[in-house]
This record gives sequence, structure tokens and C-alpha cells, in this order.
Amino acid sequence: TLQNHYISSSGSLLLGVMGDPISHSKSPIMHNAALVETGLTGSYVPLHVKPDKLEEAIKGITALGFRGVNVTIPHKVEVMKFLHHVDESARLIGAVNTIMNDNGVLTGYNTDGIGYVRSLKEEVISDLYGSTIMVIGAGGAARGIIYALAKENPARIIIANRTADKAKELANEWSSHTDILGISTQEALPLMREIDILINTTSVGMHPNVTDIPIDPHHIPEGIIVSDLIYNPLKTRFLLEAERKSCRIHSGLGMFIYQGAYAFEYWTGTPAPIATMRESVLRSLEG
Ligand code: ATR
Repeated sequence: TLQNHYISSSGSLLLGVMGDPISHSKSPIMHNAALVETGLTGSYVPLHVKPDKLEEAIKGITALGFRGVNVTIPHKVEVMKFLHHVDESARLIGAVNTIMNDNGVLTGYNTDGIGYVRSLKEEVISDLYGSTIMVIGAGGAARGIIYALAKENPARIIIANRTADKAKELANEWSSHTDILGISTQEALPLMREIDILINTTSVGMHPNVTDIPIDPHHIPEGIIVSDLIYNPLKTRFLLEAERKSCRIHSGLGMFIYQGAYAFEYWTGTPAPIATMRESVLRSLEG
């Protein structure tokens, strides 16, 4: 039965998130709301894990009978060496954000990229086939997004980064699958005329630096889709400027919800209650 698989012998489904820092994470609020809504008996707790205690903490998953955990900054890359299996997409991305415990066998997944694309498709554009997409940034967040975007058969992906070499390296990794170009943000400006979707994957503009913006706003094209991975604030300056240019905007909240939804579905085998999860996070952002 589901009970035998998902509920530890303590009688409760144990879930959590490991990070450093962790106290500001919205994941516990979101997942506990999902547990209540689906009627599952369990709890999702914040776990403050310092880098030098990560290995012990991962062993603790099995020792304590946790069904699964999310891992966040700064553990997403490092954690892979402590798992029994890493699924193919997480291996290609080079980062794990979700761990599943099957009777002591730990498998790592990455739900960030697929969560982002699911949210983009449900909220702003149902089909990415044939579109030209510019991604600003070439760090860890960009990697998962580019992996998931490339699977949607866009016409072209342009990675624009402050440091051109990092954009070029990342583009090279995917060039056998996709028409993909890595260039400096400066060099990318003339190409902005051709794009349908512009995505910020950097942390520029995140709370508390809300007046920062990853590119000079007058370069944002009129009427395209503009997306930001940041969800605090819900509308970054980048998105506010895009709205002024009649763009359709997409905030990082959707990515956060759907990366959690995929994780919840892996752990519980139960469809994630998306609306409840979104409402719980929105309420806590306002409060
Ligand atoms: P994350 O996992 O959040 O992506 P990261 O791997 O450190 O974090 O990557 C941060 C990304 O944001 C990089 O693309 C970085 O550009 P560089 O490669 O040039 O460092 C970009 N970034 C961070 N701060 C920036 C800033 N102030 N202006 C422009 N780009 C910035």
C-alpha cells in the first residue's frame, strides 16, 4: 500500500529541506500546505545543514526515515557525491535539488528546470517550438533552465553573460542538441531584436537590492515575453520595466511552485495541489 512505501515506521511522512541559510525558505510553508490539502499525515521541516556536515546529514535521511528532502544553496552540486544514484537530467545539469529515499537507496533529481518550463508553458506560452530565447546568466540556475528549454525544440537559445567565457562554455555543452550561442551581455544587445523570450537567471534585482537590473531597460524589446527566476520581490525592476514595454511578464514564483510540485509528486505519488501551494506562498510573501 501507499502507507508502507511513504510513511516511515514513525507513522508520519517525513520531508524537509537542507540549506545554509535556511530560515527564510518558503518550502516548508508550501509543502505543509500541500500535505494538509492532500490529507497525508506528515511534516516538512527546515534543516540547517552547514557544508562540513552535509555528508552526515545525508546519512541522517536514512537513519531518521525521511522519505525525501530538497537541497538548496549551497549544497546542490556537492550533495551528488553522497547519493547512490543521480538521475540522468540531474547529472547533465550537474545539480540535485530533490532526494528520494527508497528503503535506504537515495536518488537525486533536479526539478528546477522542468518546474520552470512547466510554469512558463502554463502561465505565458503553451509551446516553445520555434521560438528564440535569450537567457541572461550562465551560473547554476541557468544550467537547469537551459537543459529544460533545449528539450522544447526552440529555434535558438542565446546565453548572454557578464563573463563571456562562461556563456560560451555552457553553450558548448549543448551545441550538439540545439542551436545555442554563448556571448557577453554587451555583444548580445544587437541580437535582442530577434528574440521572443528574455529570461533573467541571475540574482540581480533580488531582495533587498530591488533597484538593480541585469540589463539597461531601454534594451528590452517591445511586446515580447520577459521572465525572471526571482520571486522575491514578485515583480523585480526587470519585470516592471518590461511591463512598461508592453511585454507579457512571468515571475519566478511559478518555477518555485512547480519545482516543489514535482518533488511532492515524486515523494508521495499524489498529484500536487498547485493552487493551494501557490496561495500559501503568496500569503507568506505578503505577510
Ligand atoms: P546561481 O546558481 O544563482 O546561478 P552562480 O552560479 O553564482 O549563481 O551564477 C550567477 C550568475 O549571475 C552568473 O552568470 C553571474 O555572471 P558572471 O558569470 O559574470 O559572474 C551572474 N551575475 C551575478 N551578479 C551579477 C551582476 N551584478 N551583474 C551581472 N551578472 C551577474
